[in-house]
Amino acid sequence: MNGVCSPASVLYPCLSVFESLHVRLTTFQLTLETKKSSFSDMIRKARVPDVQAIQSLINCNADAGQMLPRTLNELYEHLRDFSLFEEKGVIVGTCALHVSWEGLAEIRSLAVRQDRMSNGIGSALVRACLAEAVELGSARVFVLTYQGDFFKKMGFADVDKGELPHKVWSDCLNCVKFPNCDESALMLSLSAS
Ligand SMILES: CC(C)(COP(=O)(O)OP(=O)(O)OC[C@H]1O[C@@H](n2cnc3c(N)ncnc32)[C@H](O)[C@@H]1OP(=O)(O)O)[C@@H](O)C(=O)NCCC(=O)NCCS
Repeated sequence: MNGVCSPASVLYPCLSVFESLHVRLTTFQLTLETKKSSFSDMIRKARVPDVQAIQSLINCNADAGQMLPRTLNELYEHLRDFSLFEEKGVIVGTCALHVSWEGLAEIRSLAVRQDRMSNGIGSALVRACLAEAVELGSARVFVLTYQGDFFKKMGFADVDKGELPHKVWSDCLNCVKFPNCDESALMLSLSAS
């Protein structure tokens, strides 16, 4: 089953909390407003019945070499990290926010269905995860990605991988690319105003 559409205010409470939240991106002196829009109504937290659809979205893009694949085990264990973009009951985008360390969270597994790319879905999902990071008290969010330019448009900046805490690399031991990681690391500093 591809996810039952429930009111976003129930399944994604932090969106309503942050409808009027201004997130100041200190690195770029840029202010984004996560406001109520038709998009925020289409973003909700993932539920157990969504796992197969999430895996298809991720692994389809992973097969194209654009991101890392995820096993069902990883998805069930980290399901609470995931936010989804749903159109007419169909999941067309996914993004996870994983708490890594004190004041630090990671954007993971961002994927949009190929025929729905370039419609603002990926950036809407990232903004939802950034709002969630602010609510959780994370001051910085990083991403390991092949899509550095997309994240730079959202205010992220290149960071030396050596600046990330050692704990981050424990997750890399299970990566198919270990030890030859060719992803770029980017970071965004956040502070609520
Ligand atoms: C990268 C991805 C998530 C972007 O999602 P999307 O819904 O197509 O992106 P959006 O429509 O929100 O794009 C927002 C802006 O970023 C730009 N953009 C989108 N993809 C980009 C890319 N790969 N590189 C640079 N800019 C990009 C868009 O042109 C748009 O710019 P604009 O605001 O000036 O018009 C999507 O292409 C995807 O799923 N790719 C395959 C999986 C992947 O690489 N995931 C990243 C893993 S970390």
